[in-house]
Amino acid sequence: MTPDAPPLDEPLDEDAARIASALHDQTGPCLFALNAALHRLRMALDGLPETERAPLAAALAEAERQAGALKRAIRNALEELDPAEGGDLRQMLAELAEGFSGQGATVRLTAGPAPRLPPRVTVVFYRFVRESVLNALRHGKASRVDIRLFYEGTDLVAHVIDTGQGPPADTLRPGRGFRGIASRAASVHASWQPPHHRDGRTITELRMTTQ
Ligand SMILES: Nc1ncnc2c1ncn2[C@@H]1O[C@H](COP(=O)(O)OP(=O)(O)OP(=O)(O)O)[C@@H](O)[C@H]1O
Ligand SMILES: [Mg+2]
Repeated sequence: MTPDAPPLDEPLDEDAARIASALHDQTGPCLFALNAALHRLRMALDGLPETERAPLAAALAEAERQAGALKRAIRNALEELDPAEGGDLRQMLAELAEGFSGQGATVRLTAGPAPRLPPRVTVVFYRFVRESVLNALRHGKASRVDIRLFYEGTDLVAHVIDTGQGPPADTLRPGRGFRGIASRAASVHASWQPPHHRDGRTITELRMTTQ
C-alpha cells in the first residue's frame, strides 16, 4: 500500500456517507411515527366486533407489510451507501450465495476462516462478488457459480467461477458493473482481472495484498 492511500477505516465514498446520514435522520422519526400509528390502529381494530373488523383487517395487514418493507428498503439503501459498520465478509458472502440460490441458480461458497478486514475492504470484495455472480447468471447464463475466498501468501483473493457460455469472443464492453468494480478495487489498491476463459470455465479475480 502506498503512503498516500486513504486509511482503510474511512468511508468508501464521503458523499454517499453524507446522503446516508441525511436519509437516516430524515426517515427514522417518520418510520417510528408510522409504526406507532399502525400499532394504535391494530389495537383499535382488534377490539372491534368481527363484522366491523373484517373489512379493515386486510388493508391494515397490507399497511403493516408495506411499513416493514419500507424499513428494510431504507436499511438496505443505507448499507449500500455507507457500509461503515462493515461485517463478516464470509458470513455476508454465505448469505449472498444463499439468496442467489433461492432464485433457482446453484451458487456455492468456499471460504477459509473469516478474515478480519477493514469495512472498506469488506465492501470492495462483497460488491465484486455480488456483481460478478450476477454477471455470470445474466450474461453467462450459468446454472452454477462458485465463489472462493482464500489467502495466497499474504494476498486475500476472491474468485468467481462459472461454467456458463463465457464472455464475448471479441472485446468486453464495460458497463456500470465493471466500472464500479475497477474504481473500488483501485481505491484499496486491489487488482482485478475481468472475466476470462480458463480450463473451460469463466473466472474473474480480485486480489489484495494485506501487508
Ligand atoms: N461471467 C460472465 N460471462 C459472460 N460474460 C460476462 C461475464 N461477466 C461479464 N460479462 C460481459 O462483460 C460485460 C460487462 O459487464 P458489466 O457488469 O460491466 O456490465 P453489464 O452487466 O452489461 O451491465 P451493468 O452491470 O451496468 O448492469 C457484460 O455485458 C458481458 O458481456
Ligand atoms: Mg453487470
